[in-house]
Amino acid sequence: MRRLKVPEYILSIKPYVPGKPIEELEREYGISGSIKMASNENPIGPSPLAVKAIRGVISGINRYPDGRGHDLIMSLSEYLGVLPGKIILGNGSDEIIGLLTRAFLMPGDEVVIPDPSFLMYGIMAKSAGARLLRVPLKSLSIDLDGIAEKISERTRMIFICNPNNPTGTILSKSDFERFLQKVPQDVIIVVDEAYIEFVRDDNCFRGIDYLDSGRPVVTLRTFSKIYGLAGLRIGYGVMPEEITGILNRIRPPFNASSLAQAGAIAALRDEAFFRKTVSLIHNGLDYMYDSLNRMGIRHFTTQANFFLIDVGEKADDVFENLLKKGIIIRSMTSYGYPEYIRVTVGLPKENVRFLKALEKVF
Ligand SMILES: Cc1ncc(COP(=O)(O)O)c(C=O)c1O
Repeated sequence: MRRLKVPEYILSIKPYVPGKPIEELEREYGISGSIKMASNENPIGPSPLAVKAIRGVISGINRYPDGRGHDLIMSLSEYLGVLPGKIILGNGSDEIIGLLTRAFLMPGDEVVIPDPSFLMYGIMAKSAGARLLRVPLKSLSIDLDGIAEKISERTRMIFICNPNNPTGTILSKSDFERFLQKVPQDVIIVVDEAYIEFVRDDNCFRGIDYLDSGRPVVTLRTFSKIYGLAGLRIGYGVMPEEITGILNRIRPPFNASSLAQAGAIAALRDEAFFRKTVSLIHNGLDYMYDSLNRMGIRHFTTQANFFLIDVGEKADDVFENLLKKGIIIRSMTSYGYPEYIRVTVGLPKENVRFLKALEKVF
């Protein structure tokens, strides 16, 4: 085959490395009964109401889904108290990150992102040819002053992850409002709230509160975490109508499947499952913090369903040793923290198994 022509900015992208799937680990190591605490998924399973709703619509999958996602958008509109025209659905919130970068960025434009944060911001911004300006976290928190300092005439978009993945830190309302004063009116601020439902700190800001501020603030949310629907691929964005209008020009018409739409509508109504998940995560976190304190292992508090642990040595080695014991977590080496691992809170028995294994690995 002749050498294919690929833009330099695409060649500069390192592929996203997802958490290791259980099946892959078991195939490689010839083991069974493994657990995954690596991708911030819901350890309980999917919302049971969602599963029932999906079963109810499955015989209709010979038809294309509703391309406008009318029923889910109406449910979200009511749930959030936001006009339906301000909501857009995505094949996971990942897809909406891609729609935003493709619609609004041109080669040479600048995007400011915190570092480390969710890797897709950089991947998607680069794939549009934009120039990335990374602002290191300060004490594991997003440095809004640092981000504001990087803004230039070429800045088109800023990503903020609240709570931040992988550190679990949040930004307060006053932090955000102070920041907003420093950002030019035409710079899109994308607030990724994939983990917002787990937040315990009342000071945490919410992007939706700034929807009608006259500023281009975009809030992203997902059904992949609290609602337990990661495999279904459904997320949403809330933004001024001017922005949904632009994104809808390039959104693939059937990006949210009929199963995903039905599952998400039911999950949104499944308050019992929501409450059960929140309390499982909060209890699990408190248990893990206590246990690690007793073991003398340093860790960081989080507002999400995952947290960082300082293993004081090569996190890659700890990751490998835990893998051999059938436990998948994430090494933070590729995020710039070679001594930290990131662990997603699991079921109580999974948390116990992880802590025991960690103690042995130490
Ligand atoms: C901060 C953040 N945003 C977005 C996503 C992607 O979510 P989705 O499954 O909706 O694409 C993730 C998934 O890990 C995440 O951590």
